Amino acid sequence: KHCILIGAPVDCGKRRKGCVMGPDALRTAGLAEAICALGHTVEDIGNLVPDGTDTAPHPNPNVYALAENIGWTKRLMQAGPEAAAKGMPIFMGGDHALAAGSVAGMAAYAQQQNRPFFVLWLDAHSDIHTPLTSDSGNLHGTPMGYVTGRSGFDGYPPLPARVDPAQVCMIGLRSVDGAERAVLADGAAQLVDMRRIDEEGISAPLQSFLQQVKAANGMLHVSLDVDFLDPTIAPAVGTTVPGGATTREGHLVMEILSDSGLVTSLDLVELNPFLDERGRTANLMVDLTASLLGRRIFDRPTRSLQ
Ligand code: ARG
Ligand code: MN
Ligand code: MN
Ligand code: MN
Repeated sequence: KHCILIGAPVDCGKRRKGCVMGPDALRTAGLAEAICALGHTVEDIGNLVPDGTDTAPHPNPNVYALAENIGWTKRLMQAGPEAAAKGMPIFMGGDHALAAGSVAGMAAYAQQQNRPFFVLWLDAHSDIHTPLTSDSGNLHGTPMGYVTGRSGFDGYPPLPARVDPAQVCMIGLRSVDGAERAVLADGAAQLVDMRRIDEEGISAPLQSFLQQVKAANGMLHVSLDVDFLDPTIAPAVGTTVPGGATTREGHLVMEILSDSGLVTSLDLVELNPFLDERGRTANLMVDLTASLLGRRIFDRPTRSLQ
């Protein structure tokens, strides 16, 4: 594989600062080196800047940094397909607001390739608000709303390709707001909350989603939010929610994804190095990425989908 590291120091998706340092923490933790050690090639294109930050008034006065979020969405929507033409884009965040651009761009790229597009959302949160339904006003809670074509995103670039919620799987959910629950209630998206993980394990629902991706010859974007993981193993995130995925569940997900060979792009988001403990969260994000790209404890026959 050829991996393209895209620095996206997006810090405007919420009020607490620090994700601006995310890309450099991932670099410091040795992301490129870990990928190279697995036999892949890596190209780090450096950090991007938003495409314009003109202020725009908004009907929800609570919305934070709308213009900057729009600027980042434009920039990343363009950067993703450019990188995808050369290899596998890895978006180094930055907060989850960046996924409005990374996912929309990759959806557009898949459409150009005439391939269906799927999203695996690994997160405690569903992030499917719109700027109108968000009560926090933090736009990192809205990227899924944008890419699935919800209304309320005035001023954002028009969506080149809408993501079909039936082609979205969210794993790790344990903090979903009322307005989000209401849109998810149509049952289109596959929702794997912590209770389901406890009852069925994390492998079965993931395998069944991957089966769907494979059958459709789809492209698969994985969006990994630090808060998917339990705060005791991944403290460097502003929106910790207790009861998250364990180290073992995290690696298992990544290994199953690796075996599937289906992943075509990746977000590493919400890492706030200011909140980390001696780099342990950054290191874990790098180790999980390594598992996704082929690192194994022992060689064993590639596990086929069940
Ligand atoms: N649902 C909450 C909100 O809208 C939390 C969103 C957290 N999102 C995140 N990407 N960490 O404010
Ligand atoms: Mn998120
Ligand atoms: Mn989250
Ligand atoms: Mn909320």
